[in-house]
Amino acid sequence: MLIHIARERRTAPAGMLGQTAARRVTLFASTAHANRCRPPPHVTASTQPALYTARRLVSAAAMAEISHRVQTLTEGGGDGWGVYHRARLLEAQGITVTDLTIGEPDTRTDPDILAAMYASARGGHTGYAALAGTSDLRDAISARVRERTGIRTTRDNVLVTPGGQAALFTALMGALDPGDEVLFPDPFYATYPGTVRAAGGVPIPVPTHPDDGFHPKAAAVRAALTPRTRALLINSPNNPTGAVYGADTMDAMARCADDADLWLISDEVYDTQLWSGGFLSARTLPGMEARSLTVGSLSKSHAMTGSRIGWLIGPPDLVAHLVTLITHTTFGVAGFVQDAALHALTLGPSFEAQIAAPFRRRRDACLAALAGQNVVTAHPSAGAMYLMLDIRRTGLSGTDFALDLLDRHRIAVMPGESFGRAAAGHIRLALTLEDRALLDALRTLIDHAKETAP
Ligand SMILES: Cc1ncc(COP(=O)(O)O)c(C=O)c1O
Repeated sequence: MLIHIARERRTAPAGMLGQTAARRVTLFASTAHANRCRPPPHVTASTQPALYTARRLVSAAAMAEISHRVQTLTEGGGDGWGVYHRARLLEAQGITVTDLTIGEPDTRTDPDILAAMYASARGGHTGYAALAGTSDLRDAISARVRERTGIRTTRDNVLVTPGGQAALFTALMGALDPGDEVLFPDPFYATYPGTVRAAGGVPIPVPTHPDDGFHPKAAAVRAALTPRTRALLINSPNNPTGAVYGADTMDAMARCADDADLWLISDEVYDTQLWSGGFLSARTLPGMEARSLTVGSLSKSHAMTGSRIGWLIGPPDLVAHLVTLITHTTFGVAGFVQDAALHALTLGPSFEAQIAAPFRRRRDACLAALAGQNVVTAHPSAGAMYLMLDIRRTGLSGTDFALDLLDRHRIAVMPGESFGRAAAGHIRLALTLEDRALLDALRTLIDHAKETAP
C-alpha cells in the first residue's frame, strides 16, 4: 500500500504545467532522483522554471520507496505493543495508568556510576572510542564471564555493543546469510522475530507448553529444523515466562545445535535475576565455546537501560568480523559510557544482588497474593523481573483481558499473545512498580478476572 502511494506521488499533477513539461517532469521524477539530480539534458531554458516549480511540488510530496525489509519487520504490521500504546494514549489525555507493561527497572542508574560517566567525559573521553570496546572494559567483561562460566575468555572474545539488543542483532548478522532460518522457543522476547528479519533471516518460533513451564523440548526443535536453519536462539532466565533452563534443557539445546551444526545464540541479559535454581550459561556446555554467541547487558543487572551498553561473547574469528560490521554500522559505543560500565562492573555481585532484590521481593509477594484462588494462576517465575499469569479460566484471550483491564481499571499489562502463540490466554506483569502499588494492581486484576470468569 505504502509503495503504491509512493509511486503515485511521483507523478506531478499535469494541470500545473504544459503537457510536454509535465510529461518530462513525470519522467524526471520517476527516476526517483528528483531531489538530487541535475535537469536532464533535453530540458530547455523555457521549460526549466516550470520544471523547478514541479520539482518543488514533487519533492515536497514524494518519498522514495521504503525498503521491503523495514516494512515487513513486524508480522502483519502488528508488533504486540497495542496495549502499551493505548496506555500511552490515555496518559497523554491526562489519565493515570498503572503501568506493568515494559521491563524498565524503577530504580534509576546509581549516582556513583553516573559520577564515573561524568568524570570520564570531563576527562576528555568524548571522542571516538575503540570500535570493539575499550581494552579495559573488554578485560572486565571477559573476567566476569570467566568467573561465571569457568571457561577461558579473553578480550578477543568480547565485542562491546550499544545494549543487548544490538548484541543480538550483531550476533544474527554474524550467523546468517539472507533467507537462513533461526529457531527460538515460543513464547519469546517480543523483538526476536523483527531482529531476525532485520538481519535478513527467517524467524521460526518453536512452541513450548505452559504445562512444561515453557521449557523448550529437543523434539520440537528437531522437528523445526530444515536445511536453511543456521541458529538456535535461547533466553534464560526468560522474558516473558520467567523460566530458567536447568542442565537438562541446556544440554538438550546444545545437542540440537551441535547435531545440526547451528550457532547457539544465548540471550543472558537476566543472568543476575535468579529466584530459584542456578544460572547456566550456554558457554559452559560441552562444545559450545566455539559454537555459542552469548548476549549480555548492564540494562537490567545495573539499572542502566538508557546508557545502551551490552556485549557479545563469541569466538575471536567471528568477533573480528563483527568489528568490521560495527565499523559500518554503529561505529562503537561512547567512551564515557564504556568507562561508566567499567565502574559498574567493579561494584561486583553484591551490587547486582542489590539491584535484583526488589524484583525477588515483589515476585514472592505477588505469588503470595495469588494463593487461595484459581482463576488467575502464576507460572512461578524462577528468574527475570516478570510474572506470567494464566488467565484462561476467564475465557478471554490475553489481549482481550488486557484491553478490558486497561479500559475498566487503568491497569496496563502485556498480553501473552505479544510474545507468540504459546502464551495465548496469558498476561505478563513487569515487576517494576513499587511494592504496595503493584500488589494493589494485582488484587484489582484478580477481582476483575473473578468477575469476568463464567
Ligand atoms: C530477553 C531480552 N533480551 C534483550 C533485551 C535488550 O536489552 P538491552 O536494553 O540491553 O538492549 C531485553 C530487554 O528488555 C530482553 O528482555
